[in-house]
Amino acid sequence: MERRRFLSACAALAGMAGVGEAPAEWVTASPRLYARSRLVDTFGAPLKASKLAARTNYVFNYPFASTPCFLLDLGRPVAGADGILRANGAQYAWTGGVGRSHSVVAYSAICAHKLAYPTREVSFIRFQSDRPPTSDANVIHCCADHSVYDPSAGARVVSGPAPQPLAAILLDYDSDRDELAALGTVGAEQFDAFFDKYDFKLALEYGAGKAKVPAGDTTVVRELTQYCKQTIQC
Ligand code: FES
Repeated sequence: MERRRFLSACAALAGMAGVGEAPAEWVTASPRLYARSRLVDTFGAPLKASKLAARTNYVFNYPFASTPCFLLDLGRPVAGADGILRANGAQYAWTGGVGRSHSVVAYSAICAHKLAYPTREVSFIRFQSDRPPTSDANVIHCCADHSVYDPSAGARVVSGPAPQPLAAILLDYDSDRDELAALGTVGAEQFDAFFDKYDFKLALEYGAGKAKVPAGDTTVVRELTQYCKQTIQC
């Protein structure tokens, strides 16, 4: 059922992309599909979505070997949303949470402002479950310049300088197996800018030319605390 729901949503979005009567500034952005990548745990076993700890930061790399994404169980059902705006005026729909409780979401962890992202050393961007002095609880907050995103609403910008939401990662949920796979993105990808900005650093970290290779048939999900050494709080 989950898979059918996702595929029909994609079909609807793809159909909307060609609607001729829409005003020029109302261009609809279509999902972008990449190679399917199954989410696995650190032992290589398929990740069980219902085993995710609620409101906890998990990270996996997709669609490329070096591009991190957040995987979050928000702890409550999350409905989809449409009319989400990119900086270029294009709109798109986000299909909402997946999993048994429709509470699991995934987003690119590359900040839409100046591309801060979780590295092996440090992360300025993370989901925060409690309420710090500078923003609300249950948001994704980038402490670099305080862009705040709502993961329950397609990562819309709540506050701060980010000009557009984080790109959403399309998840396929197998309800029989309780397993997840990443299929693509919807929203404003920033992978080209990311590779341009961090070319030298990524080459050092992953090896020359290896940062841009596809994530692969499987991609490992880790808690953010295992993915990088220090998470900046703000
Ligand atoms: S890079 Fe994230 S708010 Fe500036």
